[in-house]
Amino acid sequence: MPDSRSLIPEARSAVRALASSRIRDIANAGMHDPGVLAFWFGEPDQVTPAFIRDAAAASLARGETFYSQNFGIPELRIAIADYLSALHRPTVSDEIAVTASGMSALMLVVEALVSPGDRVVVVTPLWPNLVEIPKILSAQVVCVPLSFGASGWSLDVDRLLDALTPGTRALMINSPNNPTGWTIDRGSQQALLAHCARHGIWIVADDVYERLYYAEDRPCAPSLLDIADNDMRVVSTNSFSKAWLMTGWRLGWIVGPKPLLPDLGKLIEYNTSCSPVFVQRAGVVALRDGEPTVDVTRERLRRARDRLVDALHSLPGVEVAPPAGAMYAFLRIDGVDDSMAFCRRLVHDARLGLAPGSAFGPEGEGFVRWCFAASDERLDDGVARLARFLATAPPVGKTPTRE
Ligand SMILES: Cc1ncc(COP(=O)(O)O)c(C=O)c1O
Repeated sequence: MPDSRSLIPEARSAVRALASSRIRDIANAGMHDPGVLAFWFGEPDQVTPAFIRDAAAASLARGETFYSQNFGIPELRIAIADYLSALHRPTVSDEIAVTASGMSALMLVVEALVSPGDRVVVVTPLWPNLVEIPKILSAQVVCVPLSFGASGWSLDVDRLLDALTPGTRALMINSPNNPTGWTIDRGSQQALLAHCARHGIWIVADDVYERLYYAEDRPCAPSLLDIADNDMRVVSTNSFSKAWLMTGWRLGWIVGPKPLLPDLGKLIEYNTSCSPVFVQRAGVVALRDGEPTVDVTRERLRRARDRLVDALHSLPGVEVAPPAGAMYAFLRIDGVDDSMAFCRRLVHDARLGLAPGSAFGPEGEGFVRWCFAASDERLDDGVARLARFLATAPPVGKTPTRE
């Protein structure tokens, strides 16, 4: 007879140990209530532009309902390569794998690179998926915290370099960063690239917010693809979700050194096999004709950021720095020491949905994340709800401030 404990119908221990998303936990608590004004997810509030939807509809009308190549249809791989060549460095379609979302791109890259026990370094606060993905592969994740000061979030590059010890398998870096908006500068990128090249450490750059960058008058945040050679151990993952307003389509890509591609192809086969052709056709059109959409989206978000940050500055006890990129304000609220309890209370009492800072790592405790990809009216209503709540709220998740 087998030991009865071995028959418990459970997932393996690394999976059971994964943290559930605290963003989801809060959203699940309030999603049933249409009166809750929600800013908890990282999602533009606008529908995908009609010219992109039309391309998918036309593909379906043509009957393109079959499997496609593992790496994506040639037209989309070429469109991505051309797009990256114009934005960053000469790129060919053999370096591109189309994926069924940015999330899937990250998972595939980690599956390709990371073995159980490998050391993977991440910079936090960070979107929780990036911290948990390597753990699915039973990797050891080491977090290097950003610090928060008067001018916003900053990275101590020497501290990060020290954490990237010889034998480290990979650095995963998201810039512009979800949730803080912190964006790595060129000098830090150069130092990381040289260090990682010296020690054979892979860099996985999650670039999904690179087009949502407000700090300088540039069409794009500084990218490792601008400075890394095509044959270096640098992989960039990206997505159509944010800049082209396509979250529900589930389309992204990986660009990496050619020798990695055959193995990524096997992993794509054993994960999703391919992305739907009609979705890929929409991606081709988004890249070909979508620059005005990206520009309008960035300008709209820049204005929303300024409006929200200005309004939040007028609230007593709220501290926030204008984020350089992405679509989130990450605000510290005086006296909040349990952001999860605070956000639950916000949903219940103020009917305002924000994401708890602790979802993004321990250094996010005391903060809440607010996605500002929303109309002026919604943002103003949200600030009014927060103001009323802070003025009257009993201190749940908030330590009473002494008189
Ligand atoms: C930092 C970061 N990376 C990747 C993604 C993945 O985006 P998607 O799976 O919608 O392509 C997100 C989505 O919120 C994100 O915030």
